[in-house]
Amino acid sequence: MMNFKLKTGKSVTLRQAEMSDYESVNLYLNKIATETIYTQYYPGRSVATPDQFQKDIQNNLYCLARDEEKIIGAVSAKVLEPNHPWKNKICRFGVHVLKAYQNQGLGNQLMVVLEEWAKNRQLHKIEAVVRDENRQALALYIKHGFIIEGFRHDTALIDGVWHGDYDIGKVLD
Ligand SMILES: CC(C)(COP(=O)(O)OP(=O)(O)OC[C@H]1O[C@@H](n2cnc3c(N)ncnc32)[C@H](O)[C@@H]1OP(=O)(O)O)[C@@H](O)C(=O)NCCC(=O)NCCS
Repeated sequence: MMNFKLKTGKSVTLRQAEMSDYESVNLYLNKIATETIYTQYYPGRSVATPDQFQKDIQNNLYCLARDEEKIIGAVSAKVLEPNHPWKNKICRFGVHVLKAYQNQGLGNQLMVVLEEWAKNRQLHKIEAVVRDENRQALALYIKHGFIIEGFRHDTALIDGVWHGDYDIGKVLD
């Protein structure tokens, strides 16, 4: 567990998720789903089953940021093809922060946690997809040394409008 101070001076804690966090993570992800169209979550989507959650936290990064007991942000990452000899050094991540806590440096700190985890695992590359108009996330990733590797048109139809995705990636030293 580590402590981190938001730009407002408020102290938050960061630690890897445990099975006992299952209900509160689901509540948090449902809130994220109502606040943004920039993650994979959408309102009404049932989030992971307990079994899936167990797997997600076991071998992967699943770091929760809390203001006291309340989850306010998270970063998760996993190697998508751990048994593939050519692909097992590449991970994919997701990061999110509740609206009320954005622009206070937490996203930045979660990216530091992500990179430390990937380096400790001796991974070679971190990847993600970012929805085209998500300037805030793009700015954060570019600040952390990610580059835009490509653009895919019309990857999601949201409320009648087609959106595209940037592929972003960072090769670790
Ligand atoms: C992306 C996200 C995780 C960033 O978290 P955060 O806690 O706000 O991040 P930080 O406060 O550390 O940094 C945000 C940076 O974006 C910048 N920013 C904010 N709005 C911006 C905009 N419209 N255009 C460009 N940059 C912007 C801020 O100035 C800040 O940069 P700085 O550190 O140089 O001042 C958060 O906005 C979020 O959860 N968004 C919704 C979900 C999402 O998009 N997740 C990523 C999916 S790929």
